[in-house]
Amino acid sequence: MAVPELLPTVERYHPAARILHWMVAVLLFVVFPVGAVIKFIKEDVKLTFYAIHENLGFLILWLMLARLTVRLLVPPPLEPPMPKIFVRAAGITHRLLYAALILQPIFGFLATNAFGFPLNWFGLGVVWSPIGKDPELAPILMSVHVALGWSILVLFALHIGGVVFHHVLRRDPTLYRML
Ligand code: HEM
Repeated sequence: MAVPELLPTVERYHPAARILHWMVAVLLFVVFPVGAVIKFIKEDVKLTFYAIHENLGFLILWLMLARLTVRLLVPPPLEPPMPKIFVRAAGITHRLLYAALILQPIFGFLATNAFGFPLNWFGLGVVWSPIGKDPELAPILMSVHVALGWSILVLFALHIGGVVFHHVLRRDPTLYRML
């Protein structure tokens, strides 16, 4: 069945949950690769890459907190019938994705402050930080940011694996719940 015909028959996520989901997805496609290549970028354009990564990365934090709020206020639609093990695997992956996508920008933000670079978010003003310049703490915070970054990649691969499993192998309407 084509998407427009199927959509009205599927119980979908709340519109706010769907919009926030796709906003975070699009932002991640920019923030993640930009962060990963910064170390290879020539000095004269490096600052632009930092600005894109940090400003949009910090935006992800607020969008994720909004998503969490929506999820707690409006429970997601019921899962289509499937073995418990898959429901559990999806639940764990989703929880870990929420945790990682909230902690990642927090650690990035704290690390940059510890390196001595406060964030002037989109030029709106400097964001208050609980820690100031701390050269000993900075590399520790940054290594958590790097580790979380690669964990997000693994979780994202599992998430896409779930989409392929539902949409291609089981041919159930799970994907349409988020469209
Ligand atoms: C969800 C949001 C974010 C994601 C997914 C993310 C992801 C990443 C990734 C994958 C890297 C490369 C790690 C590596 O070198 O292997 C990175 C580096 C970095 N991130 Fe983030 N990041 C996010 C938010 C932030 C925020 C909000 C800040 C600061 C305000 C920040 C600051 C940095 C810095 C300073 C680096 C090091 C770049 C370098 O010099 O190589 N990140 N990030």
